[in-house]
Amino acid sequence: MKNLSKITLSVLIIASAALTSCNNDDDDPKPPVKASIYERLGGTKMVADPDNSGQMIEQGRLSFRKVVNSTIGLIVADIQSNASGNLQAHFAPVLAETGNTQATSIARLSDNLTDFFSFNTGGTNAVNTYSGLNMVAAHDPAKNPRMGTKSSSADYTKFVGYVGAAANSNGVASNTELYTDIVAVLESLRTPIVQK
Ligand code: HEM
Repeated sequence: MKNLSKITLSVLIIASAALTSCNNDDDDPKPPVKASIYERLGGTKMVADPDNSGQMIEQGRLSFRKVVNSTIGLIVADIQSNASGNLQAHFAPVLAETGNTQATSIARLSDNLTDFFSFNTGGTNAVNTYSGLNMVAAHDPAKNPRMGTKSSSADYTKFVGYVGAAANSNGVASNTELYTDIVAVLESLRTPIVQK
């Protein structure tokens, strides 16, 4: 028993010496500061905008716009599937708008979502400034009549799944750190957005 305590004590001393020397070693290379999600998606590098001929766009914003538009495509497919638990009731006011109005409202949603993601993940250019409602108000039908019904946690999980699938189809694989970081940003919004 006595010997065992001695061994335990010496293990502790060696361990704490190792920790102290680690803490005091200023020559250790510091881990590099991680680039923002926006930078990792291409950042401020200007590229030709494939959807607006003759115009340039930041690569980071273009990456987000592609993911957002793929997500909207998946949501529309979900609604058209008529499956139980689909997102139809939530988006009904937006989809009920017809003709040009609907095209405009979906384009506005795409623009606002692109601004929102770019602005909140490191996009600093004024073009990325988000000027829509905050996440609580945007998802409360009493404050935003374009939100059909409140979202449940299950709706939210489905929505995040669509953003993830959209990221996958735009070159961000599920097993990457970038994907994990994007999902973490989305998860941080579950509480304000889920309101029932
Ligand atoms: C990570 C999750 C989400 C984010 C970041 C997000 C973000 C946004 C943003 C930025 C807007 C625009 C607000 C404005 O124009 O003022 C919006 C609107 C909306 N969101 Fe979400 N949202 C999320 C999840 C959801 C979920 C789970 C649902 C429903 C199931 C939903 C349904 C809607 C609807 C119906 C609108 C209104 C469309 C419009 O005004 O054009 N969202 N959301």
